[in-house]
This record gives sequence, C-alpha cells and structure tokens, in this order.
Amino acid sequence: MIDLDQVRAEAQTSIAAAASLEALEALRVSLLGKKGSISLLMKSLGDMGPEERKAAGQQLNLVKDAVAAALDGRKADLERAALEERLARERIDVTLPARPEAEGRIHPIAQVMDEMTAIFAQMGFSVAEGPDIEDDFHNFTALNIPLEHPARQMHDTFYFGARDDGSRHLLRTHTSPVQIRTMLASKPPIRIIAPGRTYRCDSDMTHTPMFHQIEGLVIDKATHMGHLKGCLMEFVTTFFEVEEVPVRFRPSFFPFTEPSAEVDIGCSRQGGELKIGKGSGWLEIGGSGMVHPNVLKACGLDPDEYQGFAFGMGVERMAMLKYGIPDLRTFFESDLRWLKHYGFLPLDVPTLSGGLTR
Ligand code: PHE
Repeated sequence: MIDLDQVRAEAQTSIAAAASLEALEALRVSLLGKKGSISLLMKSLGDMGPEERKAAGQQLNLVKDAVAAALDGRKADLERAALEERLARERIDVTLPARPEAEGRIHPIAQVMDEMTAIFAQMGFSVAEGPDIEDDFHNFTALNIPLEHPARQMHDTFYFGARDDGSRHLLRTHTSPVQIRTMLASKPPIRIIAPGRTYRCDSDMTHTPMFHQIEGLVIDKATHMGHLKGCLMEFVTTFFEVEEVPVRFRPSFFPFTEPSAEVDIGCSRQGGELKIGKGSGWLEIGGSGMVHPNVLKACGLDPDEYQGFAFGMGVERMAMLKYGIPDLRTFFESDLRWLKHYGFLPLDVPTLSGGLTR
C-alpha cells in the first residue's frame, strides 16, 4: 500500500514550488490529468476488495481534494503576482509635467492672420477665399481696371504664358479679386474677409515677390464710410491690444473704390521705440474706400440699390508693427533661430476670449 500522506506532501511541495502558471498547469496535468499519478491511483481502486476500496477511496478523495485546493491556491497566488508585476511595470506618474515644450513654432504670418480672422469673425465677418492664380477679369477688369489702364503697370504683375485664345493667367497682385468672386457667388448682405497670398514682381528691402494681404468687403443697402472707419478703428484697437489708437483717412486713389482713402494709425516714436497708439506720428496700414459703382455693376449688382466698403491691409506690415520685427525679408528666410524667437507656440490659438497673444 502506498503512503498517501507522502503522495500529498510531495504534491503540495512541488505545487508550492511551481514558479509560473505554465509550470503549475504542467503539474496539474501530471497529478490530476487523465494519466496523472493521482488519477492512476484512483483507477487502481478497481482492483481492490469492497472494504479496502471504501477506506482507500475515502483517503484518496481527501488527497485529491487537498491537491486540487493546493493547485487552486497556488494559481491564485501566481495570478495575483503577475497582475502586480504588470501594474508595477505599466505604472505612469500622472503628476509628471507634460512633455518638454514643442520644438515647432507657428510662423508670425500665420499667427497674425489667425488673430485678424478671430477679430473680424467676432464682428460678423466670414472668411472667403480665391485662387492665387487668377485671370485678368477678376484681378483687373472687374475691379474697374480696364486694359491699358495705367494702374496695371503699377502692379508689376507676374504673368503666365499666353493660352490659345491669347489670354494670360497671372499671380494675383492683391486679394481684391476675392471681392469679385464673392459678389458673383452670393447675394448681399455680404460681410467677408479674405486673407491670403499675393504676388508682385518686386524685391528689395521693403518688398518681397510674395506677400500677404487681408481684404475686407461689406455690401448692403445702407453701408457708408462711417461704418468703414468704425470697423477699422474697432479692429485696430483689438489687434494692437491698446485702449485707443487714432485712425486717420488720407485721400487716395484706387480704381475699384470711390472715394478712396489710405488708412493711417497713430503712433509715437520715442527713444527709437515705436509704440502704436496716441502720439505725434502716423503709420500707413492699408487702403480702403467705398466700392466703385462700376465694380458693383461688373458683379451684377445695381449700384442704386447696393453700396458698401472694402479695405486691404498688408499682413507682414501688421506683424512687423505688432511684434517689432524689423526686417521684412526675414519672414521668408526659414531661419529656425528667427522662427524660435518670433514664432508662436502651436497650442496658443488666438481667440478674443482667451487672448490674442499669451
Ligand atoms: N487692393 C489694394 C492694394 O493692393 C488695397 C485695397 C483694397 C484698396 C480694398 C482699397 C480697397 O493696394
């Protein structure tokens, strides 16, 4: 007769020593599996006489239950240990500060266009767009600049090669063609801004062949120049984040506006430092005027029914004035040190409620 106590003790020892769930499973099979040692002992009961079988059977069942319990217990221990090990391994410290500051920067041009858009959006303007490659009609003719008009020479236009019909496409010289596209595509009341790239064949200290403008257009039945001035005054104080900025209209000429005015804002220059706001100096920031009746007509609008104003500002110039960037050409040099200095953090999206600049 085999010593069942010893069988149990040995089984319990090796179960306690099982180091992994796999090892424990192998052990279970070797003890309680179909051909396991304890199962074989159970089978051997069949060879015994009734009395002996009864006693041995009870004993063996106790051993079997004890071994099964030991297996379950060890399994639970190993599983708990595995979970704890995993929890320790995958631990994250949520109190750590965020990753190091992002390397990338938003270019001042993009930032300023976003700031301007946020301000005009607040005033009820929506953003309109047009293509950089324009045709003569949208860039000139519909803007009351007919062929042979001297204003065409002023624009230093980049032209593409002639097409079969003799017409030539061009790189838009201003964002004003978006006025035309908007008036042709929608009915008044119209209240849009159009920020975007513009091109002129000009390159020196203060000109780059590609630059940015933001156009504004308001058309309805009763809009007048007072609205234009009020709109620009509101824009300028919000943009420069100062209490008061004087705005001055200087008579000027644009073929597509009548009357036309150049827009100046007040500034002071003291000790070589330029400050936007009250002062004795003036700075030009763009052109403006009441939309010319011929432009309305070219877009199918009756000038006796509708009128409105338009303005155009240089984005680089606004960025230079606001952020004290001295040299226009540096905008386009892709110098990473410059961008790191003048650029903006990607998550600091300008909003009027959160602050234009933080
Ligand atoms: N398009 C003009 C320019 O580029 C600016 C402007 C826009 C003037 C709208 C008046 C009205 O110089």
